[in-house]
Amino acid sequence: MPDTLTITDNRTGKLYEIPITDGAIRATDLRQIKVTKEDQGLGTYDPAFMNTASCRSRITYIDGDKGILEYRGYPIEQLAEQSTYLETAYLIIFGQLPTEGQLREWTKQITLHTMLHENIKKLMEGFQYDAHPMSVFLSTVGAFSTFYADAKKIFDEESRKKQIHRLIAKVPTIAAYAYRHSIGRPYNYPDNDLSFTGNFLNMLFRMTELKYQVSPVLERALDVLFILHADHEQNCSTNAMRGIGSSHVDPYSAMAGAAAALFGPLHGGANEAVLRMLAEIGTVQNVPGFIKRVKAGEGRLMGFGHRVYKSYDPRAKIIKQTADQVFEVTGKNPLLDIALELERIALEDEYFVTRRLYPNVDFYSGLIYQAMGFPVTMFPVLFAIPRTSGWIAQWEEMLLDPEQKIARPRQVYIGATRRDYIPLSKRT
Ligand code: CMC
Repeated sequence: MPDTLTITDNRTGKLYEIPITDGAIRATDLRQIKVTKEDQGLGTYDPAFMNTASCRSRITYIDGDKGILEYRGYPIEQLAEQSTYLETAYLIIFGQLPTEGQLREWTKQITLHTMLHENIKKLMEGFQYDAHPMSVFLSTVGAFSTFYADAKKIFDEESRKKQIHRLIAKVPTIAAYAYRHSIGRPYNYPDNDLSFTGNFLNMLFRMTELKYQVSPVLERALDVLFILHADHEQNCSTNAMRGIGSSHVDPYSAMAGAAAALFGPLHGGANEAVLRMLAEIGTVQNVPGFIKRVKAGEGRLMGFGHRVYKSYDPRAKIIKQTADQVFEVTGKNPLLDIALELERIALEDEYFVTRRLYPNVDFYSGLIYQAMGFPVTMFPVLFAIPRTSGWIAQWEEMLLDPEQKIARPRQVYIGATRRDYIPLSKRT
């Protein structure tokens, strides 16, 4: 059987044979289907990209029905158990797990690039005391393009590598400064003796002590959360990164846009929304009433449902285990019982079962972050730190893909047909 699709255009009676590659047809192959010569050709209408692949990618594989997530072929469960965030970031960006020597060099490069230019510090000091840390984060990432003019050389491999080191290394420092700024405390400089997440905790929470004592449980928990958030193929912010990057702008400008997309409550802002929702529910007794209101269309159960996963999000499973380890150190988050009751009822309820709505990555991550001492406004920032590796890998893949061009979708025009301008005095 040939891998083709035969289409009959009932408007003309003509027959077309379209090749199928990797389970997809090329939308441009439909352009030959015309009624008249002047006709632009048949298009596809796909708001929100419900069934359109925008790229061919080798980075992340998801099977939403089976609940599978793999980076470069490695299952997320194995990486979360055996890898570190820095090693996983290397894997995502360079395509292979590093050798010992490569990992040493990569870790050294990242450690050496954690400091921020003092002028960036000054720039951050200019933000209002109550500015949302995610707004500060994305503005500062965008401002990086004013500091690193060499980043414009996007087709120079060495330059790209430099920006990769800078971005992976500096995002935790920006995040920590944004947090310290929001609570009016002095910024802590990076400590090169500590691990990636250990140093991040140091920059966030060190007070007057000379050396910050990192809790190994919290350090590892954060590392696992970072592994889980590192990439998720063509999600809203990655699509923004690729789309903006396709204009050949520098990676900092593109990433500011990606971070802005991540800020939205339907994407990276969801775990913040989950905590607000749990706080609003208040007690376990109020859970059935809340579920009833969701089913009546009065709001959504935040942290539930996913565009791709139509079964339990594999990341949510791992996060639930991590939560138990964290709560042993920090004490149980009082909102946990409400979350567990919500999940229990929702997983049995016909409304959620028939729509295949399961907990996603954000349902439990916020509870962990809150128990670790983060305010809810820091949640999207905590998502952006590890997602930086995914954004960069996808951006580079897009740049080096000879099939990619500037992203420019078509539209189906449904507005007014041509009409003549009416002078203001004659308008009624
Ligand atoms: N609570 C209640 N009903 C829901 C929910 C929810 N969380 N999510 C979807 N539905 C219903 C929706 O009302 C619709 O019902 P009907 O067919 O009767 O109109 C049906 O399920 C399909 O929903 P949809 O909006 O067409 O699904 P989508 O694929 O466009 O949306 C989503 C995916 C994640 C935006 C959505 O499930 C949602 O808003 N969830 C809550 C926000 C959230 O947790 N977001 C984090 C996503 S995971 C993090 C990430 O990877 O970025």
